Amino acid sequence: MRKNAKKIKIIRSPLVLQRLSKKMLAQKKSIGLVPTMGALHKGHISLVEMSVKNNNITIVSIFVNPVQFGANEDFAKYPRRLQADAKLCAEAGADIIFAPAPKDMYPMSLQTYVRNVEIENIYCGACRPGHFAGVLSVVAKLFNIALPSNAYFGEKDFQQLHVIRKMTCDLNFPVRIIGAKTIREKSGLAMSSRNEYMSKEERAAASSIYVGMLEAKKMYRRGINSVAKLKKAIFEKIEQAGGKVQYAEIANKDNLMPVKTKILKDAVILLACYFGKTRLIDHLEI
Ligand code: PAJ
Repeated sequence: MRKNAKKIKIIRSPLVLQRLSKKMLAQKKSIGLVPTMGALHKGHISLVEMSVKNNNITIVSIFVNPVQFGANEDFAKYPRRLQADAKLCAEAGADIIFAPAPKDMYPMSLQTYVRNVEIENIYCGACRPGHFAGVLSVVAKLFNIALPSNAYFGEKDFQQLHVIRKMTCDLNFPVRIIGAKTIREKSGLAMSSRNEYMSKEERAAASSIYVGMLEAKKMYRRGINSVAKLKKAIFEKIEQAGGKVQYAEIANKDNLMPVKTKILKDAVILLACYFGKTRLIDHLEI
């Protein structure tokens, strides 16, 4: 963190940012983009710091994107605190915040979506219909508005990072996608803007997610490669702590296809669960 944070520019208009980005690119400046929905925590800031280190200009977008939320999800109550977020970004050395209003991003309702037809219906996609089309469409718009050379995303949202990489490759976006490790609280709970929905007790119990995944990883290291056994260990740890598992799957790390019976190649645990009303996701490579 920088003590003397520079003044950060807040831009709301997509057109204004696009013009500025074109100008900066003409001046041979590299642009790093960190897309977020705000309520920033150390996980987000680790991405901002990475971008600041490796680019001339860092743009952080803060936009709670309505088209990636389902009708019964938390769009309305998602935490919004632009001024506090701007301060954190300035301290981390970012140059520009792009904080459009929904009407700036969607002056008319969206008719053109980017979809990953293979991956959008599994794991989180199965639980949140339309979610990944909403994410990919807004990320494509952000790429076209901010014109980044490099864009930074967390492994925390493992399936999201996968579909963003695939979109960038499939559609030839001239952007390098950089994935970053998940930042966790001391308890092992992955940092998330949604953690603040939980009570103190729920938050403590939610550390069982990481404990359960670590237990499965240990079992795998001991030679147990049965998907059913590893999944059972994860379910037990989380449900004993009072959580409700929505899904816990083992996927091939490279193509994210589900591993059905035995793990033979690099794999990753992907899961979503509820503590109280709060939906949390996590992952661990094994
Ligand atoms: P949001 O949940 O705000 O996350 C913004 C970025 O921060 C994502 O790339 C996410 O993976 C990363 N991130 C979140 N928690 C993290 C943690 N504990 N450690 C490391 N990185 C973490 O993901 C979204 O917003 C949206 O879907 C978005 C991509 C902005 C599109 O609207």
